[in-house]
Amino acid sequence: MRREDNEKLTLTGPGTPMGEMLRQYWVPIAHASALERDGAPLRITLFSQNFVAFRATDGRVGLIDEACPHRGVSMALARNEENGLRCIFHGWKRDVTGSVVDAPCEPAEHRAQFCKNIRVNRYPVRECAGAVWAYLGMGEPPLFPDFEFTRLPPNQLIMRRAEVPYNWLQGVEAHIDSSHVPFLHRGFVVQQQSGLDPAIREGLAKMLENTAPRFETDDTPYGLREGALRDLDNGQIYVRIREMVLPFYTFIPGAIKGACHGRIIIPIDDRTSAEWYILYDPWGPLAADEIHSMFMNSADDPNNFSANLGGRGDLWGQDRQAMKEGHYSGLTKNIPFEDFIVQASMGPLIDRDNEQLGKADIILITVRRKLLEAVKRFERGEGVSWRGDFNYDHIRSRAVCIDPTTTNWRDVSWNLT
Ligand code: FES
Ligand SMILES: [Fe+2]
Repeated sequence: MRREDNEKLTLTGPGTPMGEMLRQYWVPIAHASALERDGAPLRITLFSQNFVAFRATDGRVGLIDEACPHRGVSMALARNEENGLRCIFHGWKRDVTGSVVDAPCEPAEHRAQFCKNIRVNRYPVRECAGAVWAYLGMGEPPLFPDFEFTRLPPNQLIMRRAEVPYNWLQGVEAHIDSSHVPFLHRGFVVQQQSGLDPAIREGLAKMLENTAPRFETDDTPYGLREGALRDLDNGQIYVRIREMVLPFYTFIPGAIKGACHGRIIIPIDDRTSAEWYILYDPWGPLAADEIHSMFMNSADDPNNFSANLGGRGDLWGQDRQAMKEGHYSGLTKNIPFEDFIVQASMGPLIDRDNEQLGKADIILITVRRKLLEAVKRFERGEGVSWRGDFNYDHIRSRAVCIDPTTTNWRDVSWNLT
């Protein structure tokens, strides 16, 4: 990939084309539990820009620029009281909409008008699925992406955030690259097969055995859908259907029935990202063992469950003895950490000039091309891609066994029963 294309795709600070384009979508900004009523404001960096979020006395959440509009003191130091954040320097107060509602050093008679005239940036905020979401772009926000998981009751859903030391595009590429599953995650997939229904077990066994499936990809109004197809011995086909909602939401197939998986990756800066892991069960309460197998051995903090990821110094705790005993990667904490560690090991911001890609990487190439076309279109003022009025709640990844003589995998993913 040419250096200028790589930069266009990876750099997301204020004023960069990709940064401005990515701000045109709703993003999760913090786990809801990280904000307490009248509690400490939370400093949040997104797209290399600093904000402060807070939960007011009435429970509503506000997101404002970190710098006080008076003279730039950090609002992370502010007092959170009586439905607003009050700057500790001269007492200017902001409400959850971002408005300045008090400037107590100004003469009383013109104070109200003075406050009205203060220019502030406003960021629409919404709380849903256990997370606080915000729109950081200019102009009207698009429709909220009300994915299926956002409509589920809390016992059918878990959404946690991790901070990881790599660029957002590396995260996207991990989410869409299904070829790595039978390698990197083999140790856990083998462990988790026991107890599954035989049909699912057969599909998973096939996935481990046939590591070069046929890939079929379709464009969709929101991005693309990929089927990874493997023939089974009984004449059926095991299909793993992945949904990519560009630019940064991905839905990854789990087992045939059971929890579904979503991933969102948002740039914190160009070398750090927030990885959101979403596990949800559209059919009923999430099983405790599903939650355990995803998040076991991770840090307790749902706003950063990768706090104990480790680092390069000791190769993230890779366990060679476990590898001898059959664990493929030796990264034995959990599946998300296996993904985080391989990405972190590449470095925080890779240049992509020396990659040597094969047919199995076709989806990476497709997604990079789509993102690059979209950012160039956006730069030319030709609008924002993938912001239509489609039904987000119809998008779900699936793993299915189908009879190819009667069923096309493309029809299956819409069969949401
Ligand atoms: S800097 Fe915040 S009130 Fe003066
Ligand atoms: Fe993975």
